[in-house]
Amino acid sequence: MSLSTFFTYTTLAGPLILAALFFLVPVYQDLKYRFQVWCRKSNAQAPGLPPTIYSIPFGIPFFIDVLRYSKKQTLMPFIQKIWHSKQTATIRLQTIGEFDILTSDPENIKAILAVDFKDYNFGHRHGAFEPLLGDGIFTLEGAGWKHSRAMLRPQFTRQMIAQLDSIERHVLQLISVIQASSGENVDLQALFFKLTIDTATEFLFGESVQTLSGGNPKITYARNFDLAFNSAQAFLARRFRLNIFYKLADTQQFREWCTTCKSFTDSYVQLALERADQKQENGEKEKEKEKERERERESYVFLDELVKETRDPQVLRDQALNILLAGRDSTASLLSWIFYNLAIYPAVFTKLRAEILTHFGTTPSTLSFESLKQCKYLRYVIDETLRLYPIVPANARAAVRDTYLPRGGLGPDSESSDPDARYFGTRPVFIPKGTILGYSVYVLHRDPHFWGG
Ligand code: HEM
Repeated sequence: MSLSTFFTYTTLAGPLILAALFFLVPVYQDLKYRFQVWCRKSNAQAPGLPPTIYSIPFGIPFFIDVLRYSKKQTLMPFIQKIWHSKQTATIRLQTIGEFDILTSDPENIKAILAVDFKDYNFGHRHGAFEPLLGDGIFTLEGAGWKHSRAMLRPQFTRQMIAQLDSIERHVLQLISVIQASSGENVDLQALFFKLTIDTATEFLFGESVQTLSGGNPKITYARNFDLAFNSAQAFLARRFRLNIFYKLADTQQFREWCTTCKSFTDSYVQLALERADQKQENGEKEKEKEKERERERESYVFLDELVKETRDPQVLRDQALNILLAGRDSTASLLSWIFYNLAIYPAVFTKLRAEILTHFGTTPSTLSFESLKQCKYLRYVIDETLRLYPIVPANARAAVRDTYLPRGGLGPDSESSDPDARYFGTRPVFIPKGTILGYSVYVLHRDPHFWGG
């Protein structure tokens, strides 16, 4: 063989092997799964096959769609359409590099989150979120997660989260920003995100970044923090969507945003540690004073309380950033969707306003957990908003061992005249170790089987 022929062959070989792998790996994965299910057909569980959606080649078209619809901010309706295309609550879907199982069946979601909790972990969540969130309640598994729960639980007693005076101050600021627009359109969603970072930073650090009033003049980089936190958080979502390839989303800018957030939080951790040292030095006198402050329910600062559980600055910073992420977006998103719906349904708005005035009047002094509970119509509005626009619309876990979902597998008996037999499947679904399971309450909350329509 001449040298030039040799080079021609070797140049061709690379792309050919790659192309073969591209097609052969998914075929191998698919056949292996079918064989595993077949091998277990006489087990007590006797699994069935969930309907499969292929995305050829290699799950790339689906992956591109996810990026496209995420950009257009219509990812959930797209996912819902895919689900419904198979007319079942549980499907197997080829995504980039693997086959995932997706379910909106409440029995399966219960198994993943409760009954068979030990069979699953967060998959790549820690890796995807770590640059900003480090090791906190959202990213840790097993013993680390349990420890976080135990450490954070005392911070969420009723008295501690009922800081109405502080919230009222920020809400009044929000109202004054709206009034200042003198009838012009305002972007309420942007304002709600400012409101919740203002209240959350006050609750966590003892000092609000005051983005609604243009930034706290006492904090030099309050505005940088707001920008960095928003941007880093959006980047985390992108990393999470990249699934096992999350490391591909990593830029210098992202690292800088994370550093800004961490340095900002570190400065408050330092202050909290210093305050704790000061208190220790002052001894009993300070203890008395503190008791008095608690009695008066003077403002509660999360970091000051957490310092009583641990003095590790990194743990304090990571947990504070985890709580900021958990509490800030969720509240701002819910408020945004509620007001969006009230704008669309004016009759609901009129009724809700009347109910609120009847229950609480025009001042917040009568607000309490108990009085809030009694305002039933408010509850209905919140619940219905959370049904249609759940704050965590879809989520994922990974199987840490071979296991089963209770429903979703199809067998010959699934073709019966009972419409539920095909929709929910009549058999369990075999879940090999390592499988990613997506579950969606957004799809469940709009499922005609449960909600009609
Ligand atoms: C509308 C308000 C909220 C909704 C709908 C909501 C919803 C949720 C959901 C669905 C999860 C589970 C996420 C998962 O499985 O990965 C979660 C977890 C969590 N949320 Fe919220 N949340 C809200 C507000 C808050 C607030 C205000 C805080 C704190 C200030 C908070 C702190 C947490 C924490 C710490 C976790 C992790 C719990 C754990 O892993 O044990 N959430 N939330």
